[in-house]
Amino acid sequence: MKKILLVAATVALSIGSVQANPYTALGCAGCHGAAGQGGTGPALAGKDAAWLVKQLKDFQSGARVSATMNAMAGMAKGKEQAIADFLASK
Ligand code: HEC
Repeated sequence: MKKILLVAATVALSIGSVQANPYTALGCAGCHGAAGQGGTGPALAGKDAAWLVKQLKDFQSGARVSATMNAMAGMAKGKEQAIADFLASK
């Protein structure tokens, strides 16, 4: 019983953080690290939020070219600010 409660709490917690955090929900963490510390992709933690929003918009418009990020930034449409705020706070 205790174990079931624990699993339920963990699931609820992860659903809550996915809703609050499009960075994780969209899979950005897979390349940039759970807290934006970097991985296959460059580190994003602690970067200026306005700069992060601009990079995402530039990837969306094609002003900045990266096969991976042009696709990923498209998925982040409308969530740029939330993602940038999350990363800037890290
Ligand atoms: C499959 C791996 C991968 C995923 C998933 C991914 N990225 Fe990236 N990202 C990269 C790589 C590689 C670069 C470097 C691109 C370049 O400069 O050519 C990059 C660059 C960036 C940059 C610019 C960083 C800099 O130092 O100039 C930002 C901002 C960024 N990604 C945000 C995101 C966000 C937000 C998501 C989720 C919507 C995401 N990335 C998903 C691999 C990834």
